[in-house]
Amino acid sequence: MAGSVAVRAATPEDEPQVVALWHACGLVVPSNDPVADFRFARGAPSSDILVAADEAGRIRGSVLVGHDGHRGWLYYVAAAPDARNTGIGRRMVDAAEAWLEARGVVKAQLMVRETNRQVIAFYERLGFAVTPRTVMAKRLRPEP
Ligand SMILES: CC(C)(COP(=O)(O)OP(=O)(O)OC[C@H]1O[C@@H](n2cnc3c(N)ncnc32)[C@H](O)[C@@H]1OP(=O)(O)O)[C@@H](O)C(=O)NCCC(=O)NCCS
Repeated sequence: MAGSVAVRAATPEDEPQVVALWHACGLVVPSNDPVADFRFARGAPSSDILVAADEAGRIRGSVLVGHDGHRGWLYYVAAAPDARNTGIGRRMVDAAEAWLEARGVVKAQLMVRETNRQVIAFYERLGFAVTPRTVMAKRLRPEP
C-alpha cells in the first residue's frame, strides 16, 4: 500500500527533489533537460507535474501529465527506488488519468523506451495495451 503518501500538484519548491527522483529512477537522458521539463510542464495550462509526498515531505513518486488538445500523455512516471511495489506507481498513473478525465481527455498514451521494456508489464497491469505505431520525431531546437 502507498499508505502514507499524498498525491498533489508539484510546487516550485519540489523541483530539486523531483529532478533527483528522475535521476534516481534512470529517467534522465542527455536529450532532455529535467529542470526545463519540470518548469515547462508546470508553467503550461495543459500540463502539470503530480507528485506523491510522504508525511516527512519527501517526494516518493511523480508523473508529468498533459494533453495536446486530443490525447493525454504521461511522462516521468516514477516511484522512488526504495519504495517500489508499494502502490506509488499505480497512484501516480491513477492521478494522471483523473487529471486528464477532468479535462475531457478520453485516451491516455505513453511511450516506453526500447531500453526500458520491462516496464511494459507494469502498464499492462494498469490496463494499458501495446498499440503499435511508428513514432516520428524532429527536434525543433538543438539538444541541451
Ligand atoms: C514503473 C514504476 C513506476 C512502478 O512503480 P511501483 O510503485 O513499484 O509500482 P506499483 O507498486 O504501483 O505496482 C502496481 C502494480 O504493477 C505491478 N508491477 C509493478 N512493477 C512491475 C513490473 N516491473 N512488472 C510487472 N508488474 C509490475 C505490481 O505488482 C502492482 O500490481 P497489483 O497492484 O495488481 O498488485 C517503478 O518501477 C519505477 O519508477 N521505475 C523506474 C522508472 C520508469 O521506468 N518509469 C516508466 C517510464 S516509461
